[in-house]
Order: sequence, then C-alpha cells, then structure tokens
Amino acid sequence: MTRLSGKTALITGAARGIGLAFAEAYLAEGARVAIGDIDIDRAHAAAERLGPDAMAVEMNVTDQASIDTAVSATADAFGQIDILVNNAAIFTAAPITEITRADYARVFDINVAGCLFTLQAVARHMIERGIKGRIINMASQAGRRGEPLVAVYCASKAAVISLTQSAGLNLIKHGINVNAIAPGVVDGEHWDGVDAFFAKYEGKAPGQKKAEVGAAVPFGRMGTARDLTGMAVFLASDDADYIVAQTYNVDGGNWMS
Ligand SMILES: NC(=O)c1ccc[n+]([C@@H]2O[C@H](COP(=O)([O-])OP(=O)(O)OC[C@H]3O[C@@H](n4cnc5c(N)ncnc54)[C@H](O)[C@@H]3O)[C@@H](O)[C@H]2O)c1
Repeated sequence: MTRLSGKTALITGAARGIGLAFAEAYLAEGARVAIGDIDIDRAHAAAERLGPDAMAVEMNVTDQASIDTAVSATADAFGQIDILVNNAAIFTAAPITEITRADYARVFDINVAGCLFTLQAVARHMIERGIKGRIINMASQAGRRGEPLVAVYCASKAAVISLTQSAGLNLIKHGINVNAIAPGVVDGEHWDGVDAFFAKYEGKAPGQKKAEVGAAVPFGRMGTARDLTGMAVFLASDDADYIVAQTYNVDGGNWMS
C-alpha cells in the first residue's frame, strides 16, 4: 500500500491516541511523518518506535513561534509538507454556571486558534512552494450539536467545522484541499478524561459513562483510533481531489448529515 508514497505529513498532537494511529497509517502508505506534540518525550518515543520515516517535532499549537519552528523543522528534515492533520485538542466539561473564562480561553486557544494558525502556517508553506496539499482538521460529533455539560468543547469543535468550510473555500484555488473528520466516541486516554468529568458531574462510577456511550452507538461499541485511519488516508490521498470543505462523520452511526 503506497497511496501516500513520496508525501510528508505533519500531524499535531500525534504522540498518542488518534494522531498516533494516523501517523502509523500514513507510514504504512509510504509517507514520512512528523509527530508534532507538546509532549515531546512521548513524541520522541513514538518516532523511535516507528522508525526512520518518522520524526518527533516539539510543538505547542498555542504559540506562533512554536508552530513556525515545527513547520520549518519538518520541511528541513523531509523537504516539504504535503499533508497537515490538525489533531491536537483538549476536552473540558462543566455546567454553564461553572464555566470559567480561563478554561474557555485555554480550550479555544488550543482547539480553535491552534487549528487556524497551524493551518495558516502550513498553507503559506504550501502556496510558496506550489504544493497541492491536503489539510485535515479533527472536528467531532460534539461540533454537530451542543451537550448540557460540554458547551465549550462543543463550541470549539463547531468552530473547527466552520473554519474547515471557510479555509476549504479559500484555499482550493491554490490546489489545497481542506476537509475535516468528525469522530464520535473513540476509546483511549482522551475518553478516560471525559469519563472522569462525567463521574464528577453526573455522579457516575468510573467507566460507567464509557459503557453507556459505547452501548448507544448504532454500530454497537465505542470507536477505536484505528476505525478512523481509513478516512484519514483517503482524505490525504489523490482519490480525494474533488472533495473540498467537507466534514465527514466517522462515528458508527451516531450522527447523520
Ligand atoms: N477521542 C475521542 O472520542 C474523540 C472524539 C471526537 C473528536 N476527537 C478529536 O480527535 C483529536 C484527537 O483526539 P485523541 O482522542 O487522540 O486525544 P488525546 O487527548 O489522546 O491526544 C491529544 C494530543 O494532543 C496533544 N496536545 C495537547 N495540547 C497541545 C498543544 N497545545 N500543542 C500540541 N499538542 C498538544 C497532547 O499532548 C496529546 O498527545 C482531537 O482533536 C479530539 O478533539 C476525539
């Protein structure tokens, strides 16, 4: 399988979870992959395990200098960037009456500004070099509708869907396709954190919320990071040339649009 052979991808937040699974899938398709993450030790460990076509890049998507350095470091090491996956994000939950400005600012800084300004830096890189690139933003089913305890995260992911549409429409004239993936509930460390929030606010036992959301998925279980890699490879491949500004649900049937 070499659908991405000769391509270089930068994936933010790829030291673990979904981003790491995407890195593995892109490598299997022949790409070289920069694992961008604020957790550089874990990014290094992942890159070492994945081999010479993977590299770790220290990257804080809330810091413009860090974004720019990561883009240059990836291009210096691998020649150029053909594919960006804006994957880094954090989750938060609280009743409306308990949301703090600090938490709101932190989530929007990473999930929304981090996505926009990483996308901007890589789009500039692609345009300067005439690269017909691919940008994939990680949205969420949470961006499709609000949830009583998840206002800030849901709003941040709705913003990612909207940014995908505007950036997709603006950049396609340069041959850059911008699209997004909206996962449903994907088991892993992220959801361990989500489960803990619901334990706190809904008085659930640890693991109970996970079991409930898994049982409610039409497919019959929570997703795994591996369930998302087919869409991530497809959107990065030549087969997706005519796909612009879309957000695809990969969620076992949770949301239909
Ligand atoms: N897991 C799910 O159920 C689920 C569902 C829908 C959408 N998503 C989205 O998919 C993406 C990946 O989710 P995941 O489950 O792998 O999450 P995760 O929490 O396991 O991984 C997120 C990664 O982002 C990194 N990160 C955090 N802040 C950063 C920053 N400022 N700069 C750079 N890196 C930073 C973390 O170190 C971590 O490695 C996220 O955008 C998430 O919102 C996840």
